[in-house]
Amino acid sequence: MRVPPLDLARVHAGMENELKEAAARVISSGRYVSGDENAALERTLAEMHEGQHAVAVNSGTDALLLGLMAAGVGPEHEVITTPFTFFATVECILALGAKPVFVDIDPESFCLNPELLERVFTLKSRVVIPVHLYGHPCDMQRIVELAGQESGVMVFEDSAQAIGAKTGGGTVGTFGDMAALSFYPTKNVGALGDAGAFVTRYDNLVEAVRMLRNHGQSARYQHDTRGINSRMDELQAAFLNIKLKHVRKWNEGRRALAARYDELLADMPGVITPPVKPGCEHTYHQYTIRVPNRDEVQRRLNEAGIGAMVHYPTPLHLCKALSHLGHAEGSFPEAERAAREVLCLPIFPGLTADEQAQVVTALRKIMEKTL
Ligand SMILES: Cc1ncc(COP(=O)(O)O)c(C=O)c1O
Repeated sequence: MRVPPLDLARVHAGMENELKEAAARVISSGRYVSGDENAALERTLAEMHEGQHAVAVNSGTDALLLGLMAAGVGPEHEVITTPFTFFATVECILALGAKPVFVDIDPESFCLNPELLERVFTLKSRVVIPVHLYGHPCDMQRIVELAGQESGVMVFEDSAQAIGAKTGGGTVGTFGDMAALSFYPTKNVGALGDAGAFVTRYDNLVEAVRMLRNHGQSARYQHDTRGINSRMDELQAAFLNIKLKHVRKWNEGRRALAARYDELLADMPGVITPPVKPGCEHTYHQYTIRVPNRDEVQRRLNEAGIGAMVHYPTPLHLCKALSHLGHAEGSFPEAERAAREVLCLPIFPGLTADEQAQVVTALRKIMEKTL
């Protein structure tokens, strides 16, 4: 039996009728962009983020781009982030002509290491983008504290993988000045297409992003600034209004699956399970182990029908698109080591105990052969 990395049909099984009814309701409403479903979604997201404002947009990538645009980021600025993330985090910085400045990761959480942050601030620093990778919260207290000591530096949380995660009792996405959420279908709460959201506590930023996502219009055909088209479809908002009701239960289910993996893998030679930092509530968008001979282990697992994936095999400072920054191998050793060692095991709502046992049995056999 195959174990897929993610089975969305299983995730949607109990709610198919509700999703179809929502689609029918939107179709007959005649309103397909930025309508009542969008407004309801923004209210729910605001509630989930401690009463801050939320703006529905077309993707997590656009939420990042729009936030940086609203913060006035341009070619004269530097934006600090991690080299171990999905490319979108950095793509938005490049899109505005700003310079990405990298800080290596903490090897346990896979997130930007705040102890290395202080040394990279310059007079050009404008924004820090911590990424809550795999659903593990960054050390937001320390990052906000350090950024606060610099003048004019904002913190923009990339919460694409971490909706509902917590640290120190607070919800991820509410610590910084702004946050970006992704509802890409594979995320912990996914739309049935592309969608994302921008979150902030500041009225001026929320107004700026509302305008920027809609061609820079302050009113119909009054283009006050150059924006983009990044409105959310009503269909996607309607689907998300249904799916968001399950986020807490799904995240708890993922934590239970992770605890089971932790237990089953505890004594497996060569395997390092993902630790959780004190005071953190992980959302396990990915359950990521480290193994030696990772590519071979992955290949053999895939041959055995186990959907083990690598997120991400190349740290961004070594990507061709960033070669102009001139980073050589060895510049960010922990990000490079993570890129060589990480392996994400199947985790999703509905994954069964039998399937988890199958993953672990296959991995044990492979580890015995490859160590
Ligand atoms: C860390 C991170 N940032 C940003 C994004 C971009 O989100 P989207 O795919 O919704 O544009 C993703 C999604 O893959 C992501 O994982």
